[in-house]
Amino acid sequence: MKIKSHLKNLSPYPPGKTVNEIRKELNLSGKIYKMNSNENPLGPSPKVIEAIKDCLSQVHHYPEASYRELKKALAEKWNVLPEQIILGNGSNEIIEFIFKALVNPGEEIIVSNPSFLMYEKFAQIYGVNIKSIPLTENLTHNFDEILKNISEKTKVIFLDHPQNPSGSVLNREAWKTFLKKVPPFTLVVVDEAYGEFINDPSIPLGIEFLKDSYKVLILRTFSKAYGLAGLRLGYGITFLELSKILDLVRQPFNINLLAYKAGLAVLQDKEYIEKSIKLVIEGRKYLTESLTDLGFRVYPSQANFIMVDFGEKAEKIYQELLKRGILIRSLKAYGYPNALRISIGLPEENRILVENIKKLI
Ligand SMILES: Cc1ncc(COP(=O)(O)O)c(C=O)c1O
Repeated sequence: MKIKSHLKNLSPYPPGKTVNEIRKELNLSGKIYKMNSNENPLGPSPKVIEAIKDCLSQVHHYPEASYRELKKALAEKWNVLPEQIILGNGSNEIIEFIFKALVNPGEEIIVSNPSFLMYEKFAQIYGVNIKSIPLTENLTHNFDEILKNISEKTKVIFLDHPQNPSGSVLNREAWKTFLKKVPPFTLVVVDEAYGEFINDPSIPLGIEFLKDSYKVLILRTFSKAYGLAGLRLGYGITFLELSKILDLVRQPFNINLLAYKAGLAVLQDKEYIEKSIKLVIEGRKYLTESLTDLGFRVYPSQANFIMVDFGEKAEKIYQELLKRGILIRSLKAYGYPNALRISIGLPEENRILVENIKKLI
């Protein structure tokens, strides 16, 4: 047996720790505040729980292969054709479909540095070269540098919008100027995993660009605002020529029955979705203001997390919060040893976090 040589340096994705892992590692017995993985702090929608209970007795059957109802519901939401929707086992899986369908070994992708790690991970798995373009000083995508780095081998540019881990976004004019200059052989992926939390009207959504006939693919997920991270459900929206091939490289039944029914149920629970978004927008404002008042640099965020520069205190704050059962994300692995990423929690969780940081400094 010989493992492919380009896989030799592959390292695992560093996931946020679960509540149970932390409990065991640190021997903690009290409440744990999980503010490290950008999940929905409300828990699942009650409609999802009901829908899952209803279909538990059917799990010996395969799900309906075409996922017609879910595609139809999403197509109605975005005013596109159901055939333009691609469903994935998390939006992560759609990132992989893009590699399967569009990028040959030795060709290249462009990503921002840092950015969501899975773009690079899949590039490594598929033997694809990565051009990694540092963010600007404000931690936004550097469109000018990205454009300069496009070559005839550049098949895809992955751009998370809002950006992970900074939460930054770029305005309509910047996007349009950029997209006009991208050559037709390069696909732009607008990854809107956190798109629901954008509340600044000057910030566009990728769907606008798709409708203006730009060659874009929009990624969306049920893991954040829709509270289904554990079930794994995401989708892409794109032009027909691409959606058709992405649907063909997908294995049959890639969405399990529970995720399928849960997705349908949560889409109908408008009250839950509105509540989730409101909670994030209010919590983001509260945490941004409170931590700025304490003297820290908080990067403006349109996501369900904020990135905070704690200077030399970062590691100590991270470790001390951990001991108190408050989990946030260290950004050392992203190249920011002085910064921490905090997922917006329930109002009570946000308040406890701020109180604890106050005590620590
Ligand atoms: C920018 C970005 N894209 C995609 C994902 C993947 O989400 P999913 O759970 O749908 O695979 C994440 C998850 O954290 C993310 O931060």
